[in-house]
Amino acid sequence: MSNESWQDVGSVEELSKREVSEVTAGRTKLAVTFKHGTWGAVSGVCNHVGGPLGQGHCDGDYLVCPWHNWKFHRTTGLGEPGYEKDAVPSHAIKVEGGRVLVNTTPASPRSRLPHPPHPLARRLEREPGGVRVAGISTTVMDPNLPRYSTSEALLEVALEHAKAQGLETKLIKLRELKFRNCEGYYSKSARACTWPCSITQADPNDELTAVYEAMVHWADVILLATPIRWGQASSLYFKMAERLNCVQNQITISNRVLIQRKVVGFIITGGQDNIQGVAGQLMAFFTELGFHLPQFPFVAHSRGWTAEDMEQNVAEVRNSEELRQGTRELADRAIEMANALLVRTDKADSKTARGGRKAHRLEVERAGHGD
Ligand code: FES
Repeated sequence: MSNESWQDVGSVEELSKREVSEVTAGRTKLAVTFKHGTWGAVSGVCNHVGGPLGQGHCDGDYLVCPWHNWKFHRTTGLGEPGYEKDAVPSHAIKVEGGRVLVNTTPASPRSRLPHPPHPLARRLEREPGGVRVAGISTTVMDPNLPRYSTSEALLEVALEHAKAQGLETKLIKLRELKFRNCEGYYSKSARACTWPCSITQADPNDELTAVYEAMVHWADVILLATPIRWGQASSLYFKMAERLNCVQNQITISNRVLIQRKVVGFIITGGQDNIQGVAGQLMAFFTELGFHLPQFPFVAHSRGWTAEDMEQNVAEVRNSEELRQGTRELADRAIEMANALLVRTDKADSKTARGGRKAHRLEVERAGHGD
């Protein structure tokens, strides 16, 4: 090993204050550790999706990545027991005259265990066949004491209507899926929020896979039904929406639009008002994912602020043929639009210019002379 590769990365006094330090030697990012009087140095870049190992912590002699908790031995770089072949480069480290020196030429190489890709990560390739319609019901209820849900009842009307046209349909009741809340990987770094979702990849028991599968791969039309709760969509809708950040984030980090040629429509019902507010949030969110909206993209019903008579609200939805017909026609508009998108041969799937879109710094900002 040539002496030229040794680089001073800091003082013993400074680096021995913490178990883990992130340092840069030349152009090499490193994680330097000091524990029980011994030094360690490994690459600062995690094998998984490049997380900053130098910002992690030690679990025994293993360095834990701060993004998704993969572990590497702090001196050898080897993965944790059973995963030794998933290794990050290790580096020789020594102390001279109160300074810590690291050899930038790795003492051992990076190696990766093949991790079979998650099924959701497959290529976006629409299976042949007619338009497919998935309904997502976001209402919550006690499964042992089910009640009449106005939003779900109308969603069933829409799906039956699509089925009667010979289309494949699917009803997903969010309340029947066991899925974790978003744990904020995006809050660590946009690149820590992965597709498929970091939770989905790590937890085989998480059942939001059904929603991802329908939205990204299976369906051409999504019909989403929500009650109005305190002027907003249901809490279960927001729990799902937070977990869909990974779909939107692919646009942010790699201009990759996972939702292609798909249409969404909404069914919004509730005893209280604020239909426009709920619809506005839903439309903004789903169009940011990449969905198209048909003309008049939602049907809604509410008795309003002063009518605190839920029995009446339920009775109106139960008995209104007009609401049913309106819902069937919402499904028709969405299906018609999906059909039109599927036969488009122009640049429907081409990249969209990022100017003015979310998470894109304009060139004038980058050049430092935006007003
Ligand atoms: S565990 Fe390190 S980047 Fe995911």
